Parts: sequence; structure tokens; C-alpha cells
Amino acid sequence: MDIPLETQQRAAKLRDEINHQRYLVHVLNLEEISEAALDSLKHELTGIETDFPELITADSPTQRVAGQALPEFIKVEHASRMLSLNDIFTAEELAQWYERCTKFFGPVGAAHLGKLGYYTEIKIDGFAISLVYENGQLIQASTRGDGYIGEDVTVNARTIEAIPLSLHIPNDMPESLLRVATAAMAGRLEIRGEVYITKEDFKLLNTLQETAKLPTYANPRNLAAGSMRQLNPALAAGRRLRFFMYGIVGEFGQISHEQEHLLAQALGCPTEPHSRVCKDLAAVEHYLQEWGEARKELPYGTDGVVVNINERQIFQELGVVGKAPRAAVAFKFAAEQATTIVRDISLRMGRTGAITPTAILDPVRLAGSTVARATLHNADEITRKDIRIGDTVIIQKAGDIIPEVLQVVLGLRPEHATPYIFPTTLHGVPIQRRVGEVAHYAVGEGIPVEVLARQLEHFASRDAMSIDGMGERLVEKLVTLKLVQTLADLYRLTETDLLKIEGFASLSAKNLLLALEKSKLQPLVKLIFGLGIRHVGAQTARTLTIDLQERGIQGLSTALPLLRQTSLKDFSSLIDIGEVVGESLHTYFHDPASQSVLDELLALGVVGPIPTSVVTVHGPLTGKRLVITGSLLTMSREQAQERIRQAGGKAVSSISLDTDYLVAGDKSGSKLKKAELLEVKIITEDDLLQLLIGNP
Ligand code: IVH
Repeated sequence: MDIPLETQQRAAKLRDEINHQRYLVHVLNLEEISEAALDSLKHELTGIETDFPELITADSPTQRVAGQALPEFIKVEHASRMLSLNDIFTAEELAQWYERCTKFFGPVGAAHLGKLGYYTEIKIDGFAISLVYENGQLIQASTRGDGYIGEDVTVNARTIEAIPLSLHIPNDMPESLLRVATAAMAGRLEIRGEVYITKEDFKLLNTLQETAKLPTYANPRNLAAGSMRQLNPALAAGRRLRFFMYGIVGEFGQISHEQEHLLAQALGCPTEPHSRVCKDLAAVEHYLQEWGEARKELPYGTDGVVVNINERQIFQELGVVGKAPRAAVAFKFAAEQATTIVRDISLRMGRTGAITPTAILDPVRLAGSTVARATLHNADEITRKDIRIGDTVIIQKAGDIIPEVLQVVLGLRPEHATPYIFPTTLHGVPIQRRVGEVAHYAVGEGIPVEVLARQLEHFASRDAMSIDGMGERLVEKLVTLKLVQTLADLYRLTETDLLKIEGFASLSAKNLLLALEKSKLQPLVKLIFGLGIRHVGAQTARTLTIDLQERGIQGLSTALPLLRQTSLKDFSSLIDIGEVVGESLHTYFHDPASQSVLDELLALGVVGPIPTSVVTVHGPLTGKRLVITGSLLTMSREQAQERIRQAGGKAVSSISLDTDYLVAGDKSGSKLKKAELLEVKIITEDDLLQLLIGNP
């Protein structure tokens, strides 16, 4: 098969870049890009090599175990090669691994494989070492090195309290283990495991570094590795290193991987406490799911779960492929970072008219989903990070929702990539950066079509007017056919208009008109939110509606005159509404174009009622104003606010003289002092729970 030149070049470049990064990390202890990003590059290379095995070279990073022995240490030849593991990322890849293992044994495979189940262990994000015991005495500790030859780090290992200097058979050892233990203690026993540092100790050590004005460590894994490779054992001793074993080398009659763990533990060697036997693949998947979340609570870093075929004999029979045993895989937790290529930069105009540049990416897995776009925020950000079309970039999820580009991997930049120049027009509309703002906006009179489309989408969305059937596609058509040019035009649509739209039949037209009719009765709070007033989200819309309701307003018709008379000061002084939002509201209700749209909406029959039930609930907290501070145990702050509202009370954000209660959660700060000062009654979460059910 002919391999495209582009693919050949990409593979070569990836190899060089990964090798370079690995050298930085493993030999010089420098981390230029994160491990997740490096993994992602490696994953891409493995993919190319799987498609075109001819491209595999002897020096490909996929063909070796990382690290080289430093010349200053005495070299140690491992009795058997220190292997590594193949990575998998999805349940599907787990099933494929299982399939490969069963196939190995032919038709009886499935029954054969899982007789003793699967042993799942938390994969410690540390530094692998091998410990050799002779007749139960520690005689040597060595690093993995290249898998065949490592470095003698015995002096450092001896400083780690978790590593036993001698092993002992306890008196109460169960019969089944005793036989194995006796054999293991009789001669040479090699224990392999991971040296690591806890998250807390890592923080502490970095604080000490900062105090001493020394550079801080990049991550716990690097610190553990760097400490083990110190020539001066006193330095390693000060690093609070710990150790977990993960495997035993040698045949002592142990029947399972689980038994190896039990044995090591009984002899005095720590093992990760959450490892367990899963009886089948479904149980393995359950374990993976459980730890995908729970791992965040562990005191040490982990990057995945190791899944082993538990039965020792089957494990051995399955053998080794490349550098990894066939019978075990590393399930890696969804990386928070990944690398991919920027294919294009596209601009999108939002409903406020602000333009956001977006990177169009080669699709890549990131934190559990496939990502094909990332926000570039604005022109300044593109310049600062020097992002060019064709660049390989590291992306990460920002606040777990929108992916963003973190940095460019400069070593992979194509030769002819040129800096990105921000366009001066978008769909023929001139765009310009507003003075004092980072964003570009459309310039000139009238609403650009794109902005109108975004406004309509927002107006029709579920949390606003909830107009069934009016999604992005329909909006696009209404706007391009010029059937709708303002929000009010929506309510002027006729069946004849709608039938002009491709794919619209009489029934769908009637349904849409019905949905529009229904929306006229959406509560005012939703209408206000749907108007898309700058900075006015659902919460502000609510505050405003509550205020209107308190002033006796029942719907849009009576609300409008009042809103148009409200001064900037009055808007800004509403609870939860600051100056910025206040100004935006004031501008909106004084803008002639917006106001004529509102008049038209009213004339077209939009009622915007204030249903009493939404605003005034009569309950145990009616008339009471409560402020919550700190974090609560039984509910989130939003939930608490909602429950207060449901009980008729008001949940407000700042304390004043008319506040009735301050609910003080954990880690309450300045609000507590202010409440004391103003003599506001301070209550606990328990008290609140009582108040909510009517117990004063
Ligand atoms: S089993 C046969 N189990 O992860 C290969 N490895 O990515 C032996 N690691 O080289 C590995 N925790 O340094 C195994 N519970 C665990 C582990 C673990 C961390 C490390 C180990 C290994 C690397 C593979």
C-alpha cells in the first residue's frame, strides 16, 4: 500500500517531538508540556503506526519503555525485563482487549479467561522501581531505566519508610498463603511497585520551595522521580516518599494476581488499598466508572486503573506483545488535555453582536467526549498564543465545559504557517474592535443577519419563550428569506409565509403558529430573559420580575411604562443587580428601537403575565429575607435559595439592616462579621432546614 507523503512526514515529526519531550522529562526532569498532552501525541502516532505498520522504526517512542540510566548511577541489569502497559481509554477498547485475550485461547477462551476474575488496581501516578529481597532482606532497589537496565537507587529506597528493609512471615498467615510465602522468602524475591508522593506533601514541599525562593516542582510524579534519582540520599529522605507494590517477579506457587498482593501485604509491603477482584467484565466497567469520580478524593495522584487477568497461569500463557503483557491493560481516565490540529479559524457573531473566533479542529477525545472546536476567545488571545492554521495545539476543557486552546506545540508547526490575521468583514458586514473592549463587533446601521438569528434562537429557547419547533435551522431560513427582521415579526408570521420555507407543510406550519400563540402567555420573567438584554440572565430577570410584582404589576402592559421610568440608580440598587447590569437595563429601556419592538409585541398579543405562583409563594418564610454564606452540607447554595423561595422567603445576596437571617455554612467569611455588626440573626444549616418546614 502506498503511504501518503503527508502521513510519513507527520509520523517522523511526531516521533522527533515525542522523543524530545521524553528526553526533557525523563533525563533532564523538565516538563515542557503536560503528560496528558504528550500521551495524546503518542496516541496519534500509535494510530498512524497501526494503520501503516511499515512506518514503525526501531527508535519509535511507541517501541520502548521510557528513560535512560544516568551515567552517575551504577547500572543494574533486571533479571526480567520491566514491562510497561498498553493504554486504553474507552469501554469499547476494554471490550476489544477482552476479545483479543479470549481469541488467544480459541473457542474455549471466554470460559477459560475469567475463571478467577479480573484484578483491578488503582494505577499510581509515581515512579516505578524494583526491589530485590534475598532471604527476606532488601539487597537492592533499582529504577526501570530502559526496561532491561536501570540504576541502583538502593540508598534512596532505604530512606523510604514504606519500603520494608526486611520481610517477615506473620504468625497468623492463612494456610493457603503460607506455602507461597515460605517459597518466596527462601531465596530471591523481586517486588515491583511505584514510589509516589501524596498530594498534600507535594503542596507542602512546594510551599517550602517558595519560601526558600527556589523553583517549585511541576507535579507529584516528577518530584517522586527526581527524588529517587538524587545522588545524595539525604535529599530523597526529606521528600516524604511513599511506596505501593503492584507485582511480584518469580514463581512461588502463587495462583493469582490477587494472591501476590495479599502475599506482599502480609510480608510487610504496602499495596494500594482499593484494589479488588471483579468477577466479570461488567464488574470491571463498574469499577472504572466508580473510580473515574472517586479518584479525585484519593490522597495520591492516579491516572487510571490497571486491569489484570487474575489467574497467574493464564496471565503467563498470554505472553508479551512489544513492551507490554497481553493480560493487563491500563485504562486511562479521560485526559483533561489533548493535542490536535487546527484546520481553520471561524468567526461567529453572538446575539449581542460580539464576534468570537473558534478553532476548527481534527476531532479528538477530551475528558470523555469528542471535541472538534475550541474557543479562541478574541483576537488578542490568538496573537498572544500565536495560533496559526495548521498548528498542532494542546487543548483543555475550561471549567469542564468549553474546550480552549492552551498552547501551540511549536516543534510541530508546518513550515509555511503564517500568523493569523483577523478579518475586517464577516459575511460582507464590516467588523471592528470596539474601543476599550477586546471583542470585535459588526459596525454600521441595522442588526446583522447573524445577530438577529442568535437573538431569535435565544428568544425561542426553552428557558425563554419556549417556542416548540423553532430551532437553529428554521431561524436561519426565516432570517435569510427576510420573513422575520425583528422579534416582533415572529408574531406576524402567517401560514402562507411559512409555506414558502422548503420542507414546510400545512401541518408543520399550523403547529408552529400554535406554538407561537402559546408563547404569548409565557411568564414575564421568561420574556424578559428572552429579550437578550446584555448581562441580563435568568437570575436578573427574576429579580426584576419580583420587584415589578411587589409594585403591583401583573404583566407586560403595566410593566413597560414603569420600566421606562425607572432611573439608572433605581435599577442598580435592586438586590443582586449592580451598576453594569443596571446600566444595561437602563440603556435598553431607553433605546427607541428596542422599545418599539416591545410595543409591537404587546400589540401583537404578547401578555407576559406575572403568575402569582412564580413570585409570591405563601409559606413558612413569607416576608423573610435570608442570606446564605459559606458552603452547606446537605444542598448546594442554589438549591437552598430555591427552597427558600418555595417557602415564600427571599434569598438575597448581601446583608443589610432588613435581612432577617444569615445562614452560616462552612467557611463563612466576611458576611459573618457584617451580620454580627448589623445584629442580624445568624443561624445554622440545621436551623434553616427547620425553618423551611415551619419550625421556628
Ligand atoms: S502493572 C507488567 N500496576 O504504570 C507491567 N503498573 O503505564 C507492570 N503503575 O510501568 C505494570 N500503578 O510504573 C501496574 N497498579 C499498577 C500500577 C502500575 C502504577 C505504573 C508502572 C507501569 C506503568 C505502566
